[in-house]
Amino acid sequence: MDKSSQTDLPMPQAPDQDTLNTPLYRLASASGLKTWRLAGRELLPVVQGGMGVGVSAGGLAGAVAALGGMGTVSSVDLRRLHPDLWASTADLEKEPDARERIDAANLTALDREIQRAKGIAQGQGAVAVNVMKALSAYEMYVRQALESGADAVVVGAGLPLDLPDIARDHPRTALIPILSDARGVQLLVRKWEKKGRLPDAVVIEHPRLAGGHLGAAKVADLQDPRFDFENVIPQVRAFFQTAGIEREIPLIAAGGISSREDILRLQALGASAVQLGTAFAVTLECDADPAFKRVLANARPEDMVEFISVAGLPARAVRTPWLDKYLRIEPKLKAVAHVKKRCNMAFDCLAHCGLRDGQAEMGQFCIDQQLGHALDGDVGKGLYFRGAGRLPFGNQIRSVHDLMLWLLGGCEPPQLEVERSAPIAFAATPLEVGA
Ligand SMILES: Cc1cc2nc3c(=O)[nH]c(=O)nc-3n(C[C@H](O)[C@H](O)[C@H](O)COP(=O)(O)O)c2cc1C
Repeated sequence: MDKSSQTDLPMPQAPDQDTLNTPLYRLASASGLKTWRLAGRELLPVVQGGMGVGVSAGGLAGAVAALGGMGTVSSVDLRRLHPDLWASTADLEKEPDARERIDAANLTALDREIQRAKGIAQGQGAVAVNVMKALSAYEMYVRQALESGADAVVVGAGLPLDLPDIARDHPRTALIPILSDARGVQLLVRKWEKKGRLPDAVVIEHPRLAGGHLGAAKVADLQDPRFDFENVIPQVRAFFQTAGIEREIPLIAAGGISSREDILRLQALGASAVQLGTAFAVTLECDADPAFKRVLANARPEDMVEFISVAGLPARAVRTPWLDKYLRIEPKLKAVAHVKKRCNMAFDCLAHCGLRDGQAEMGQFCIDQQLGHALDGDVGKGLYFRGAGRLPFGNQIRSVHDLMLWLLGGCEPPQLEVERSAPIAFAATPLEVGA
């Protein structure tokens, strides 16, 4: 099989001088960093990872793309960012068509956010959409992202073996799975090859370092050295070579990256680009409430905790009052886990939900509700996903441009008189775990 012609992507062209002459491209090149190509575009080697719920929407993704990187809109429950869509769907509970109406509102919101990102980007960089495989609306969100003109669809939290089928009519949209070890990459590539398509890039996310849901079966596995970039990246490159894959499949390393030196080290290992989550979540342009950013920016290493989420996957977050209380009473909640008549939020966000399905080995809280509280900056009630690593600017909230200057050029611009990251006082609140 001629693997180079499987996706009908435009042949790589030399980047035009205007693109390469923009200061960030010059800075990256002077630092010894390489650009990379995706879907016919020449990109800076920095990707902003998708962050739900509503944390990375059109504003953040567009700001990153406008500077020449890849920005990612998180697809899940975006109606929360649109007062008209939220007002018409937030109180649907027992209506028989609640789920259809909420899904429709979320698809409208996703389209709006993709257009917003593209409007801000003005043709620069790339705008991707992140969809979790574990979502019940996974296929709907992927189809909407394709129809709304996303440059790439990025899928994590499960193996997206069916993605090439869903995207069959969109050969120019880049398809990017998120995986954490070489075995997963091998399995996925073998299955996709049979469908006549290869990934356009692969995100290798390190479960010991990244934020949100993590690609390991158990919390105890998170430290396994098989996930270390030093192991995974060369193993994946070796697999591509032995499998005779001629087309270069870019690898994007994610988790704990905070400096130009990290990017240089990862490019030397064989990565084309890096993906950051937490550092972008604390930028001015991030779509969440300022209080959300302050919780992440002020978290100390000892505030971080790993636990099993309601999706059945390990996850990493800041031990805020709600999470602290939840973890303390988790054994009691598990002891009384039972199948619920309906989903707490009426739209069954997850295909398999520990709370709704009464699965005691999974988490026992409503993830959409808790992440929604975090998005709104409710420090007492929210669930605040965060990576384990240091942030480039400590607890400062800076612009996307400052972050890019730091990552690509190692230069830290003076802080403007922008928002200061005041310490957070956690207020005691009653525990809310859902229905
Ligand atoms: C607040 C937050 C929410 C996240 N949500 C998602 C998500 O919805 N889907 C996903 O694939 N990854 C998600 N992630 C992971 C990020 O996209 C990224 O890969 C990871 O955080 C990289 O590690 P870093 O935070 O150390 O840079 C999330 C991360 C954070 C911090």
